[in-house]
Amino acid sequence: MDAKTLMLLALFHLILLLSPSIINASSTRKIRARKPCKSLVFYFHDIIYNGKNSHNATAVIVGAPAWGNKTILASQNHFGDLVVFDDPITLDNYLHSTPVGRAQGFYIYDKKDIFTAWLGFSFVFNSTEHKGSLNFAGADPLMNKTREISVIGGTGDFFMARGIATLMTDSFEGEVYFRLRTDIKLYECW
Ligand SMILES: *[C@@H]1O[C@H](CO)[C@@H](O)[C@H](O)[C@H]1NC(C)=O
Ligand SMILES: *[C@@H]1O[C@H](CO)[C@@H](O)[C@H](O)[C@H]1NC(C)=O
Ligand SMILES: *[C@@H]1O[C@H](CO)[C@@H](O)[C@H](O)[C@H]1NC(C)=O
Ligand SMILES: *[C@@H]1O[C@H](CO)[C@@H](O)[C@H](O)[C@H]1NC(C)=O
Repeated sequence: MDAKTLMLLALFHLILLLSPSIINASSTRKIRARKPCKSLVFYFHDIIYNGKNSHNATAVIVGAPAWGNKTILASQNHFGDLVVFDDPITLDNYLHSTPVGRAQGFYIYDKKDIFTAWLGFSFVFNSTEHKGSLNFAGADPLMNKTREISVIGGTGDFFMARGIATLMTDSFEGEVYFRLRTDIKLYECW
């Protein structure tokens, strides 16, 4: 190897060594500088069908593991249960407030040894304040006081929206009713 090749090699290695720190520094800076362009808080109310409440249930078990059934959430932390819901969304934590939209989608319980779920749903708004939808997806380790899921898009008033929603279980009654507080922070607004 001549001197020129050696120097080029050294330079190449120096760039390789430095590049991760350059990339990291710029990406953390970018995240820190960002502030939400829109913040919204909603509550949604989930009443799971339990064989007796068909008149007010807004969620149903549509899939269960072989050892369970579609009336009662299965043992082993409900692992394998798939629930479809069409829940009212309200601005405060009162179930009987006038809904501003519906939370529509599903959750699956996806771990045997701890309560945890995966959520995929939309907020469908049809009120004077908001028209359109926001789409959510992500893991919900529901034993944690707060957990974050992605806001992956939107339509109408929320055209191209993206952000993060912080979920908090605001209340639950046995395995039939729960209420989730949803703190939405959009980082992309049009
Ligand atoms: C739904 O109706 C049942 C009676 O069938 C009642 O006991 C229950 O409180 C109602 N649930 C909610 C959340 O209002
Ligand atoms: C469903 O399973 C539960 C126990 O997990 C049981 O108590 C209940 O009777 C079952 N219901 C039906 C309709 O099979
Ligand atoms: C939205 O609300 C209006 C007025 O109540 C109603 O006419 C319309 O059908 C609703 N649209 C949807 C998609 O629910
Ligand atoms: C949820 O809680 C568990 C145990 O307290 C913790 O180890 C985990 O990091 C938390 N997960 C999130 C996403 O906050």
